[in-house]
Amino acid sequence: MFTSIRASIGRVANVYRTPIVVSRVIPVRGSHMIGVHRDTPENNSEIPFEFTPENEKRAAAIIQKYPPQYKKGACMPLLDLAQRQIGFTSISAMNYVAKKLDMPPMRVYEVATFYTMYQRKPVGKYHVQVCTTTPCQLCNSDQVMETVVKELGIKPGEVTSDGLFSIEEVECLGACANAPMIQINDDYYEDLHESNDVVKILQGFKNGSPPPPGTTKREDCEPYSGPKTLLDDPLDVRTVTRSDL
Ligand code: FES
Repeated sequence: MFTSIRASIGRVANVYRTPIVVSRVIPVRGSHMIGVHRDTPENNSEIPFEFTPENEKRAAAIIQKYPPQYKKGACMPLLDLAQRQIGFTSISAMNYVAKKLDMPPMRVYEVATFYTMYQRKPVGKYHVQVCTTTPCQLCNSDQVMETVVKELGIKPGEVTSDGLFSIEEVECLGACANAPMIQINDDYYEDLHESNDVVKILQGFKNGSPPPPGTTKREDCEPYSGPKTLLDDPLDVRTVTRSDL
């Protein structure tokens, strides 16, 4: 959720800024930027949708967290649940969530088309999101995108013929300190300074043995030359608080 809100802030900024920068590999933005639904054979309101029994229980638990008069607050987690069930946020799934939460369908459409975490068309089993916002771009995210495109043989917005991979260009994913980075499904892969870093990750997914997420270059996001702060032993709070507390 935190990540998606950051991504969406970036998206809003993108909507209002003058499009003066055009990537070499992305002539057109992905379809998630289009808020209008168009019926397709795999995404139209005639296709039935309902939660599986397991997800029905999860949905009930989520809705219970909200006062009955504010159950529409469960809209985002329920859309996420629906997307995890069928792989994308279909029009039928949105209508189902609207009905479940007593919301006008338009209100649900507004949420699903605002937050980029909701995929409005089917994506690959492994959805590769490449961040190209300024900190990542300054760390050569162009090279990351070019490597991903070359390695998978598809462009942003497309899915490989075997349905395994799809690519999306996204705004800041909140891991700028470890730029450049990509997100594959729920996991982050960071500090991708060499083309080979990206190739190795994608090869791992292709071979059915995805590498562990995170960075292989350092422990977290500390300076490459080691930590610079908080080097002393932590303060013993007993020395500064009342002993009877
Ligand atoms: S710019 Fe923030 S994660 Fe890429």
